Amino acid sequence: MTQSRISGFYKLTLDERRAKLADSASLALDDLAAFNLNGGITPESADHMIENAIGTFALPLGVGLNFMVNGRDVLVPMAIEEPSVVAGASFMAKLARAGGGFMATTTDPLMIGQMQVIHIANLEEARLKLYEHKAELLAEADSIDPVLKKFGGGARDLEVRIIEDSPIGGFLVVHLIYDVRDAMGANAVNTACEKLAPHIESITGGHVHLRILSNLADRRIARVRCMIPVKELAFDTYTGEEVRDGIIAAYAFAAADPYRAATHNKGIMNGVDAVVIATGNDWRAIEAGAHAYAARSGKYTSLSTWNRDKEGNLIGTLEMPMAVGIIGGATKVHPAAQAALKLTGAKTAGELAEIIVSVGLAQNMAALRALATEGIQRGHMSLHARQVAVAAGASGDMIEKVAAQMVAEKTVRIDKAEEILKALKAQ
Ligand code: MEV
Repeated sequence: MTQSRISGFYKLTLDERRAKLADSASLALDDLAAFNLNGGITPESADHMIENAIGTFALPLGVGLNFMVNGRDVLVPMAIEEPSVVAGASFMAKLARAGGGFMATTTDPLMIGQMQVIHIANLEEARLKLYEHKAELLAEADSIDPVLKKFGGGARDLEVRIIEDSPIGGFLVVHLIYDVRDAMGANAVNTACEKLAPHIESITGGHVHLRILSNLADRRIARVRCMIPVKELAFDTYTGEEVRDGIIAAYAFAAADPYRAATHNKGIMNGVDAVVIATGNDWRAIEAGAHAYAARSGKYTSLSTWNRDKEGNLIGTLEMPMAVGIIGGATKVHPAAQAALKLTGAKTAGELAEIIVSVGLAQNMAALRALATEGIQRGHMSLHARQVAVAAGASGDMIEKVAAQMVAEKTVRIDKAEEILKALKAQ
């Protein structure tokens, strides 16, 4: 059983942290060996992944602690360049634990494949003809990927819409709903659409133009909620009630205003993308799906909600498309992504999706809590100060000393760092 509460983790060296993680997740140290490799993959592997490879590009990989998702402790791999994200998510996961952790669910892993059918004489007639042939079209699509079928996936439904007014006149949009099980599903769905196209052309008399999945994966949704006991929210001079109401007021801003909602959702994606990237998944697909879903009512709004329950506790929810896989793609060929996946303990794509939305909600709360109280800069200060200390020429022990003094003096600037460094060296 994984233990996600590890006290003093941040004080350990990187080697010690990996050893501790292996221990906490009941894994062999070898299972996490890929994390030692700079960037997690060799240039040779990179050369097999993309064209014109010239090297690799590494990001820091951290681990989100304290997470409990559906009653199970989870260690969360997070690949991200931004300071405060890993610490913020871990801290909020700790508060959420006091309310039972994160409760998450997913729908079936249904992806949507789109076919655009143009040059049709009678759109209404062609639409109905497609429905008349639905069973045979689904049977055909179902036989395309025997491996997926073996694991319980396959074609599930067909839907046809008419687009009346467009620069090219009217056309049909056919949606193939495809259960992709533990795959991200792009390959399976795109293949199915391409293979189905000739049959659709013969039924409609039209021409199938585009055949591609939709990233608005609104049939593949992950949902999560958490409850934070109000007393857990108190800190410094702030009462729990003040922090709770501050978070709810911050949410109200995002719910009402697209300018704020974009930033609010960006905070959610800080957590979401970090796990999506660490597990080798397609974060552009997740980003596209998230923002399209946030605008599904016609007005762009918050992906999360924050309110209180009748006992006065803080209740957070998040719902968004989550098209991630645990087989195939980079998840399969990237050694660090494999190790990251192992660390999460997720056995299905749905379980991974549930972890990811939990991190998104935790990250959202971290940002709102900071914004609603002391502001975002204070939390950023100490890591930023270390970066400034390094830029001023500090090394070894000096980095921490210079950074700590700048934070204490509330001035984090390169000239200040140089001045402190000079004074410390003179001692
Ligand atoms: C910064 O990366 C993310 C925040 O801007 C999110 C937010 O404003 O809610 C802090």
